[in-house]
Amino acid sequence: MTTLLEVSGVSVTFDGFRAINNLSIQIAEPELRAVIGPNGAGKTTFMDIVTGKTRPDEGRVIWGEKSVSLLGMSESEIARAGIGRKFQKPTVFEDQTVRENLAMALKNKRGPFDVLFYRRTRHAATRIGEIAQEIGLLEQLPKRAGALSHGQKQWLEIGMLLAQDPRLLLVDEPAAGMTPAEREHTTDLLKRAAKTRAVVVIEHDMEFVRRLGCKVTVLHEGSVLAEGSLDHVTKNQEVIDVYLGR
Ligand SMILES: Nc1ncnc2c1ncn2[C@@H]1O[C@H](COP(=O)(O)OP(=O)(O)OP(=O)(O)O)[C@@H](O)[C@H]1O
Ligand SMILES: [Mg+2]
Repeated sequence: MTTLLEVSGVSVTFDGFRAINNLSIQIAEPELRAVIGPNGAGKTTFMDIVTGKTRPDEGRVIWGEKSVSLLGMSESEIARAGIGRKFQKPTVFEDQTVRENLAMALKNKRGPFDVLFYRRTRHAATRIGEIAQEIGLLEQLPKRAGALSHGQKQWLEIGMLLAQDPRLLLVDEPAAGMTPAEREHTTDLLKRAAKTRAVVVIEHDMEFVRRLGCKVTVLHEGSVLAEGSLDHVTKNQEVIDVYLGR
């Protein structure tokens, strides 16, 4: 395991309010990491900083073995560097089939592989099958995306991100609005995805976080309050006071 993402000493102020305060987080490759913490702790803002949506006032965000700074890069450059992000609301193309949605995502795949058209088309059918299998939508491939359940749409969107082959996948509250069975499937999916890449998951549902079975970072007032196994951080009195004991 080597460090893929290194956030250090990052601060962000919105209209005089310090939403992120000297935040430092390291993510390895591969790794599955859960980020928890009370509302307004800065979890989503952390992802906004990594993806270039929000620019920090100070600190460093370093990426990859070449230690490139992400701070000088645009959102699309950061995405092309291998950082994919899943937002809460699924943004699949409802009138297209599951297969077409995945095909579109593959077409937009970053990297030099795209140049070879014939290889890409031969490869695409195989890849679509693999991704559909991975997200559990193999039987839904010919279905219109609009006909999928809320959970299935979320998985399709994760599949579309996987099609881009990101080295780091950022996922903000994936379990929101899902049934218990869909939540279980989602934890399995994310665990599988994290075998070959870095996956960072923000989630409030402790049952979900327990099932992920990974290292947990607790954010509070824009900084790391505790880090370690779920058992470790849930024993921390400060974590109980600000988050668990609410
Ligand atoms: N663009 C913005 N402009 C002004 N304030 C912002 C902006 N983005 C976030 N904030 C503020 O920064 C703080 C952290 O917000 P953030 O959305 O990162 O919290 P969070 O940990 O994701 O919370 P939740 O669990 O509710 O999603 C909040 O007080 C929020 O109101
Ligand atoms: Mg949030």
